[in-house]
Amino acid sequence: MENKVNPEPYKWKDAYTVNISIIDEQHKKFLEIINELKIIINTNTCKENVSKVFFQIAYLIDHYFLKEEIYFKDCQYPNFEQHKIAHNQFIDRIIQFQKDVENNKENLCFDIYNYLEEWFDEHILKYDVEAVAFLKKSGIS
Ligand SMILES: [Fe+2]
Repeated sequence: MENKVNPEPYKWKDAYTVNISIIDEQHKKFLEIINELKIIINTNTCKENVSKVFFQIAYLIDHYFLKEEIYFKDCQYPNFEQHKIAHNQFIDRIIQFQKDVENNKENLCFDIYNYLEEWFDEHILKYDVEAVAFLKKSGIS
């Protein structure tokens, strides 16, 4: 059975903004990918578009995870190691999803969508925001 998701795109909210451009940019791009996945799932075009999705996720990992890590490390953020581990777990999960493509796994885009949505709620809105709040409170950033 085909999965469908609520077609309404997620909108950026002011509450998400941390006022550090490399982080805000990354988070906005994340939301864009999630919104694209909504379209892909609802139009049942995962096979045709999944490599484009991976390309966009890889871009985010290469460009933003690293920048965020350098930034947090430079600021001597105390939970830096844990934060980096979480990023690495994300990368491992994406590699796993790529293997699923080779195995023609069903509902793959739906699974990726759920994982990214969870990451947005758990990591981006909680851990990234928490880290920035800590750095601002300590007068570092
Ligand atoms: Fe992060």
